[in-house]
Amino acid sequence: MPEINEMKSTQSSSEGLPGGPSSAFWTSIRYATDPVSLYRDLTKYGDGHTVTMPLQMGPVVVAYSPQAAKDILTADMSTFDLYGPDALAMVFRPRSLVMLTGEAHAKERKLLMPAFSRRAVLAAYAATMKETAIQYASEQAIGKPFVMQKLAQRIMLQVVIRDVFGVTDSAEQDELRLRIRELFEASSPALIFFPALRRPFGGFGPYANWQRADATLTKLIHGLIARRRAEPPGTKLDVLSLLLSARYDDGTVPSDEVVHDELMALFLAGHAATATTISWVFYWLHRYPETLTRLRQELATLPLDAEPERYTELSYLDAVCNETMRIYPPVADLYRKLKVPLRIGTRTIPAGTGVSVFTTMLHAREDLFPEPMKFRPERFAERSYTPFEFMPYGAGARRCIGASFAHQALQIVVASILRHWELGLESTEETATRQGVGVGPKKGVPMRILRAATQEPAPVAAQPRAVNS
Ligand code: HEM
Repeated sequence: MPEINEMKSTQSSSEGLPGGPSSAFWTSIRYATDPVSLYRDLTKYGDGHTVTMPLQMGPVVVAYSPQAAKDILTADMSTFDLYGPDALAMVFRPRSLVMLTGEAHAKERKLLMPAFSRRAVLAAYAATMKETAIQYASEQAIGKPFVMQKLAQRIMLQVVIRDVFGVTDSAEQDELRLRIRELFEASSPALIFFPALRRPFGGFGPYANWQRADATLTKLIHGLIARRRAEPPGTKLDVLSLLLSARYDDGTVPSDEVVHDELMALFLAGHAATATTISWVFYWLHRYPETLTRLRQELATLPLDAEPERYTELSYLDAVCNETMRIYPPVADLYRKLKVPLRIGTRTIPAGTGVSVFTTMLHAREDLFPEPMKFRPERFAERSYTPFEFMPYGAGARRCIGASFAHQALQIVVASILRHWELGLESTEETATRQGVGVGPKKGVPMRILRAATQEPAPVAAQPRAVNS
């Protein structure tokens, strides 16, 4: 596979940039509708070709070798601006981590980190993940088809409401769920990609609807923050409680606006990608029954009433989740905009250009992952991968802050459902398609619960070791 220093100068592209596909229009259409087949076709241009992205976001140099990924993702943060800030501004609030760059970003990450890295905190989240998975899955009637991605979304929304927002009262949970759904429904792709449409038009139209939904949810979250601030400092370990007791290095407290913006960003950045991955895990396991059998044997090494965080110790389960995110990483590509020129491989890419790591293409490299379209969790036992070869959660200063939370949720939700029920796929044909800013299963993985699970005897097989999570 050609590396960035041996890129082909194929079609003409912006001055000083490597070549790439000639039609920005078709590339944009395919990016928006069928990104995975576009990624496969783009490999013919080699690592470091240039594509022009949708809606005049400008040329982007696309990398998919470990070295180029490292050059981009480990560059000093002052090298970059946000890519496509207008589109991001419709999704993420202005003071959230996702919208910050440089020193402001580093300062905010330090504030948030303890809520996602301490062992005790992660263990506290584990119980909700198990309980919610079992409760919501048990509501599916045996033998009746359901869409696994939708079930996983409901589970993850509830996990976020409990573990991130810290809301335990059921009426309050219902209200929050309703208001979040209203905001989601009002956030149309047209508003995200066409900033010119963001006008209130005298209180009518999509933007006015979005503003109303946003105002209602904002009021609700500020009420939640005010009530929590009024409570005596306790031992609660949800993200909101931890944020309210966190301090910046200079001793200052994050404002209500910052706390609000971060809560929304954590919710928006995390729950859909995790739910998508859960649904793919169920798809692959049931598509390849030998992997399911092996996983069931591993799960049976733990008692049914084991503390849920113990599922994170199981190496085959870890490898199944990793292999799922290798084939179709839900965050399929990562973008930055250069403020200053950056050397990638042997090329210097000029300031003002977008640079991107296409994780889907990196994860499909034959030299790293032989037979890349084959679901084979065992590959993670046969060799270890560097953070720039396998990177579903990104790498460097912007690596997913919720990675441990997300990975634990994947493992606990999958294990909890499999230990209680046997399931079957409604269709063995599933393809990856564009879903919002990510990539997910076109049909959402339709399945049905067949029967209660029988508990298997404990196995003896050697297990793959964990990687990168
Ligand atoms: C399987 C599930 C998930 C995947 C695959 C995933 C993937 C990623 C990736 C690839 C990035 C890096 C983006 C970049 O470099 O531009 C990222 C960033 C981020 N993720 Fe996740 N994520 C997941 C779940 C979560 C969860 C559950 C949360 C929060 C609870 C979360 C919060 C964030 C935040 C706040 C960022 C921005 C970090 C920064 O800019 O410093 N993610 N995620």
